[in-house]
Amino acid sequence: MTDDQQQVSPPPTAAPQGGAVPEPFIEVCDVVKRYGTQLVLDGVSLSVAPGETVALIGPSGGGKSTLLRCLNCLLTIDSGEIRVGPHRLNPQAPGGVGPDAARQVKRLLGMIFQDFQLFPHMTALQNVIEAPLHVLRLARNDARDRGLRLLQRVGLADRADAFPWQLSGGQKQRVAIARALAMEPRGLLCDEITSALDPELKGEVLDVVEALKRDGMTLVMVTHEIGFARRAADRVIVLAGGKIVESGTPSQVIDNPQTPRTQAFLSRVLV
Ligand SMILES: Nc1ncnc2c1ncn2[C@@H]1O[C@H](COP(=O)(O)OP(=O)(O)OP(=O)(O)O)[C@@H](O)[C@H]1O
Ligand SMILES: [Mg+2]
Repeated sequence: MTDDQQQVSPPPTAAPQGGAVPEPFIEVCDVVKRYGTQLVLDGVSLSVAPGETVALIGPSGGGKSTLLRCLNCLLTIDSGEIRVGPHRLNPQAPGGVGPDAARQVKRLLGMIFQDFQLFPHMTALQNVIEAPLHVLRLARNDARDRGLRLLQRVGLADRADAFPWQLSGGQKQRVAIARALAMEPRGLLCDEITSALDPELKGEVLDVVEALKRDGMTLVMVTHEIGFARRAADRVIVLAGGKIVESGTPSQVIDNPQTPRTQAFLSRVLV
């Protein structure tokens, strides 16, 4: 964790950055991220409006997971700036604030991973209420009520007492979604959350995601589900070689890709 290298504080003004969408919820401005000498994000800029669903696609190693991890403060960017709601992350800005401030960004953005990352020794309900109990310091009864409501929302009201090993992959992923929602984020970052699932289980997870979208949740989804991206995304962004090579509506990007990188990628995943 390298939160201490980043400044997180309200921006001096809420000036929108010349994009098509005013007052974005998430703004990524010229972000550079290296692993050692390897340049992984090479000047990435994008913005996400409140309630927007963005599908992030592109070839393996293109930097998609790295970008989500930078957004969620799991990684520190080397340069550029990330703004999430009223907070900004900028390693170059003076007067950096410590991990407490980065935690505020994490509170606004939940993250869900391909491999669920549930606590194996806890029931579904215990997984969901762990952070509300210990981070938000909710009273146990309140946390339990919230947890049961959320399990109901993801269709698992009857599995509250099941342990992860007693759940299917799709059910585990829905518990993971409920767990992320328990912190009442304004946005969710989803990193290939259906990739580990059998085809019939993917649908139940994607249905939950689509319901969240209808409820106004801001979603940034790394996905190889091109059908889902076409159906549910407001915008598709293609990240390849650490750069955004294409961005547009699903029909623009998926059905009429303009760049050779996008065309090559889609021809592989759409076979
Ligand atoms: N912790 C790390 N240390 C060093 N290099 C890393 C690390 N994590 C990722 N990389 C490298 O950074 C590049 C981008 O990786 P990233 O995981 O962001 O790609 P991705 O687009 O998510 O790929 P995939 O579709 O396979 O998940 C890759 O070359 C990868 O090998
Ligand atoms: Mg990845």
